[in-house]
Amino acid sequence: MKTPYGNIVGWGKYAPERIVTNDDLAQRVDTSDEWIRARSGIRERRMVGEDEHTSTMAVGAGREALERAGLTAADLDLIIVATSSPDYLTPPVSSQVQDLLGASCGAFQVVVGCTGFVYSLAIAQQFIATGACRTILVVGAELTSRWIDWEDRATCVLFGDGAGAVVLQASDEPSGVLAFVLGSDGSGAEHLIVPGGGVAHPPSHETVDARLNYVRMNGREVFKFATRKMPETLEAVLGKAGLTVDDLDLLIPHQANLRIIEYAAGQLGIPMEKVVVNVDRYGNTSAASIPLALCEALDEGRARPGDTLALVAFGAGLTWASAVVRLGLHTPAFRTPATAAEAVS
Ligand code: UT7
Repeated sequence: MKTPYGNIVGWGKYAPERIVTNDDLAQRVDTSDEWIRARSGIRERRMVGEDEHTSTMAVGAGREALERAGLTAADLDLIIVATSSPDYLTPPVSSQVQDLLGASCGAFQVVVGCTGFVYSLAIAQQFIATGACRTILVVGAELTSRWIDWEDRATCVLFGDGAGAVVLQASDEPSGVLAFVLGSDGSGAEHLIVPGGGVAHPPSHETVDARLNYVRMNGREVFKFATRKMPETLEAVLGKAGLTVDDLDLLIPHQANLRIIEYAAGQLGIPMEKVVVNVDRYGNTSAASIPLALCEALDEGRARPGDTLALVAFGAGLTWASAVVRLGLHTPAFRTPATAAEAVS
């Protein structure tokens, strides 16, 4: 029997309605639109309202992905939710997502910082390749605005909220994740960390007073790490897939900083026309950033049937991950109104 591939048969995203501009932030902390744009490329980001949570954003993206695939929650064999900002420390948000979608399959949460979605795609592909599952929903969802320190201007201007999802389904056509590289270097843990709230420093008056329950980042160290690892892991994954940069139709990088994206693309000689960038409109949405960018590329017809994409991420851990993904040639979702014109041209 042939090993099945995990073709992307549906995709969906959820972006909260509220847009927060750099000027809005400048009224809250000592910063400016000019600084944020020059250092990160970010112009605005989305932020949730009071009644929105990671679970509700994940469900919004998941529903759209299922609809686009022409499937229902009952068709799912597994749900994987990548997030570092679950509604609760326990239970896992994946079970809330399973319940709210009305699915009756297994579900689990993957906590690998901003690389979580690429890790989750690689995991999902294994379940499909072994024949254990036929249809899997993979979601990246992140509500960063409730764990950033609104008194730390160096981090609070960078992040945003959102979710993106794909449905993978077993297929004979060479498609989905063709190769992946997953990496971790825990010696850099301190550079991107929420120090309090876990078992090392359980929540207490002291941890709250010391603001340990918010994310802390050493931006310069993470920047150095990202600019080293992004090109390295991209080359490695292309090698694993037996491809070169010229075989790539699109690069979909983690959207943390435009300077990092441009540097990584430049190192590999990938022209920016082939790079998906939306960090200007969403900021860094952590594990949601790659699926949000992927969904936009699919919706806009920039990513088309048969295309070969490279996904590359870095983040807390420190971790990195890359994947080569091929889009199916005969996926019905490409014939939905948003992409019909591109699919037939
Ligand atoms: O998903 C994982 C993600 N994290 C990242 O990818 C972050 C990677 N790092 C970065 O993107 C960049 O390091 C930052 C955007 C965070 C910072 O850019 P930078 O060019 O590395 O700036 P810097 O940290 O070296 O700070 C330069 C100056 C400092 O002032 P002094 O010491 O030169 O006087 C900061 O205090 O900018 C100051 N600064 C700000 N000024 C206005 C820091 N934050 C702000 C701010 N507004 N929001």
